[in-house]
Amino acid sequence: MARIPDAFIDDLLARTDIVEVVGSRVPLKRQGREYSARCPFHDERSPSFTVSPTKQFYHCFGCGAHGTAISFLMNYDRLEFLDAVEELAKRVGMEVPRDTRQRNESGESRDLYSAVDAAAKFFQQQLQASTKARAYLERRGVDPDNQARFGIGYAPEGWEGLKSALGTDERRLALLEKVGLFSRNDAGRVYDKFRDRVMFPIHDRRGRVIAFGGRVMEKDDGPKYLNSPETPLFHKGRELYGLWQVRQAHAKIPRLIVVEGYMDVVALFQFGVNTAVATLGTATTPDHAELLFRNAADVYFCFDGDRAGRGAAWKALESVLPRMRDGRQAFFLFLPEGEDPDSIVRKEGAAGFDARLDQATPLSEFFFNELSKDVNLAGMEGKARLAERAKPLMAGIPDGAFRDLMLQRLTELTGVGQRAPAAEPSRPTPSMRAGRAGAAAPRRSLVRTAIALLLQKPALAEAIEPPYLFAVLRQPGIELLVELLDLVRARPGITTGAVLEHFAEREEEPALQKLALQGFPGDESAWRHELVDALAQLDRQVRQQRIDELHQRIREVGMSALSDTEKSELRELHATPR
Ligand code: UTP
Ligand code: MN
Repeated sequence: MARIPDAFIDDLLARTDIVEVVGSRVPLKRQGREYSARCPFHDERSPSFTVSPTKQFYHCFGCGAHGTAISFLMNYDRLEFLDAVEELAKRVGMEVPRDTRQRNESGESRDLYSAVDAAAKFFQQQLQASTKARAYLERRGVDPDNQARFGIGYAPEGWEGLKSALGTDERRLALLEKVGLFSRNDAGRVYDKFRDRVMFPIHDRRGRVIAFGGRVMEKDDGPKYLNSPETPLFHKGRELYGLWQVRQAHAKIPRLIVVEGYMDVVALFQFGVNTAVATLGTATTPDHAELLFRNAADVYFCFDGDRAGRGAAWKALESVLPRMRDGRQAFFLFLPEGEDPDSIVRKEGAAGFDARLDQATPLSEFFFNELSKDVNLAGMEGKARLAERAKPLMAGIPDGAFRDLMLQRLTELTGVGQRAPAAEPSRPTPSMRAGRAGAAAPRRSLVRTAIALLLQKPALAEAIEPPYLFAVLRQPGIELLVELLDLVRARPGITTGAVLEHFAEREEEPALQKLALQGFPGDESAWRHELVDALAQLDRQVRQQRIDELHQRIREVGMSALSDTEKSELRELHATPR
């Protein structure tokens, strides 16, 4: 994807008011410093969705959805990143840097889109002209409404139907070849790639046709489906057949069903199951997983019950695990031998298909079932093997309740992860956790305080000049704190939302998100004071850390083994007032 300079994004977010952007789409209610609403990304009765004008981000305490004005538009209006940026830039009268936009949609790519579009229209006309093709679709039970919804067409017999209709000049010819509609023989002759096939256009997220799948009508007429090759417009690992149609049918997609075939999507739609999409003859990629979850929190994968189907399901699971943030759910549905969603929905109707979905296997169950298939969980060796297999996969699950529950389940199954009873620390009582037990209550560490303050108001970093003495401390979060300070100093004016965006997909993100939600009493100058103070305390700890190190060495090797520099360093450290 073309890169837009960070500085531009920072500037854009600084000039955008997220309250306006969200508020024009979702009714917001003012509550103190923030605004709240019923979350537009999941169903709820009472509002747990908040928008912070000072931090310029939104967060839902119910489903965990969060982000900046840019991500809000991506999720709510379902725009691509660049389009969301364009949209916001337009609002505040900023010009998106030219080279990135050109790369996004140059004159040529516009012409490529219009070439595919012309081909799609041609195929649709040809369908009307072909009794054979219409009879085929009728036989398969695809009615005219549904044909129109999916833009189904027909590529005529012969070698040059499309070529002679649309390849009227060299430039058109070249464009059509570039979008994969022609083949070329050894002699260099160009001819139609799709011949005598029912054509399923593939739409992108904005409803533009970018590729095709073509099905033969008779057995033995070559491969059953022929698909467009990868082209500048079409990367099959990133597209989902039917997603455009699903979006058109729903203001908010309740769940997505992932099936294998074009006809499955079309047939399900026809029977009223209008939430199905298909991967295009490939395994479910991480890009697919992201796209799926960006559109719905619940995703159902539907596969054949045979070995190949279970293999494909496992591939999907691997792509999905790293995306299992809280609030997202994945299920697996295995169909009986010889059936596909198309055949099932015709036999059992939408109600029958939905009933099967309700019985689908949750990801966690599929995960542990598959991993413990050939393992004897009654024995120690089997338990160890399961634990070994599960660990690397579980490491990829984002922090959160789902991950905790998966780890807990693994512990139940294997005992691995359980601390030996003697080593178990006493659990804090609820009152201690709530911080009411005085000195015994766990206090927020200095590092966390500093990070939380920077997230409260990133501009506070301006008061902190490098070098940072405390950077050498061996404490959790120190590296993150330094990175945060550097980031804010390099990008002055950055909003909290944009800082979080910077850490998106990183393992620190959920923790940062949590800290960013905290509100500090007082005003900016009070916060600055607190930050400077926290960092000064950390600096003092550096001294203590060094003293401890030197004392440790003395205990190990004796005072006399210390070098002269170490001795004088120690004297100096002791002399400096704390
Ligand atoms: P299937 O063979 O299961 O076909 O392929 P289907 O979807 O049930 O289609 P119908 O009902 O026979 O018309 C599933 C998917 O795999 C890809 C296509 O995307 C197809 O929809 N495929 C299959 C190909 O790309 N090429 C092929 O030759 C076959
Ligand atoms: Mn089928």
